[in-house]
Amino acid sequence: MTAIPINGNAIAERIRARVARDVALLKTQRDITPGLAVVLVGNDPASSVYVKTKARQAQAVGLKSQQFLLPVHVGETELLTLIEELNSDDSVDGILVQLPLPGHIDSWRVLEAIDPSKDVDGFHPYNVGRLAAGRPALVPCTPLGVVHLINTVVSDLKGLDVVVIGRSNIVGKPLAVLLGDAGCTVTGAQLQTRNLPDLCRNADIVVSAAGYAGLVRGDWLKPGAIVIDVGINRAIDSTGAPKLVGDVAFAEAIKRAGYITPVPGGVGPMTVAYLLANTLNAAVSRRGLQLSIDHERDQVQSSCHRAQDRAADLQAAT
Ligand code: GUN
Repeated sequence: MTAIPINGNAIAERIRARVARDVALLKTQRDITPGLAVVLVGNDPASSVYVKTKARQAQAVGLKSQQFLLPVHVGETELLTLIEELNSDDSVDGILVQLPLPGHIDSWRVLEAIDPSKDVDGFHPYNVGRLAAGRPALVPCTPLGVVHLINTVVSDLKGLDVVVIGRSNIVGKPLAVLLGDAGCTVTGAQLQTRNLPDLCRNADIVVSAAGYAGLVRGDWLKPGAIVIDVGINRAIDSTGAPKLVGDVAFAEAIKRAGYITPVPGGVGPMTVAYLLANTLNAAVSRRGLQLSIDHERDQVQSSCHRAQDRAADLQAAT
């Protein structure tokens, strides 16, 4: 068996097109341009590339995109002051602080300072708690992207066995919640998990977000399994040139899986696409609006509804 690659670039492009259409509609119908503020502290090369990509794509779909590039030694107080300004700026609907932050800054203090209604990363404990409780919330972008990719292959996830490798707040934990809500039996695994190969062999879906190149081998997979590779690891190709690889030994896995995401071009583009969708949703829900167009039933729509329901909940609570 040779697995069918899942083309994250093409799927993300469709999401971006839909977001662009809705952003244009919001402008025509309400004269609103949703705004995304991306904050980067320091000049880590990988983070700089991610931030530029996010800002560029935000602009391309018609969002008002702002970048705040702060020096690596910026004080925590100065960063918190910027967050406060962005919280009270009505033209800003989404705030993203690129992680990791330098060691002298308390990351949780910063993430908790972001207005939960503008928390397009879904990292604020308010949104984390609401997601865990099954309440409408702003949901982290990579897990939304992963579920969307899986849904392009299988629409009903009820009863499927999933192994999620990695327990990060950004991917593994929220993804386990989303997949559990979709009816999957989720095993939350990590590098230290005993019998990891055997657990994977029994899984219909394996998602690896461990950050360990080549961890998941071809013979770990059930024939026909769906394999989603969230890992982005630096490696060297046969000519000595740098390249990016995932957590999955792709050449082996493609011979055994049913569907597999490549790295790059799998999950990565979905993360950015959902950041744009979350920003649009935050702009709509913060104002208690609904977009008066017919959406097809898809991930963007359900994410949008979650945000709108959440706005209603917030209003009811105040
Ligand atoms: N660093 C790595 N992934 C992410 C992400 O999804 N959001 C933020 N803010 N930082 C990250």
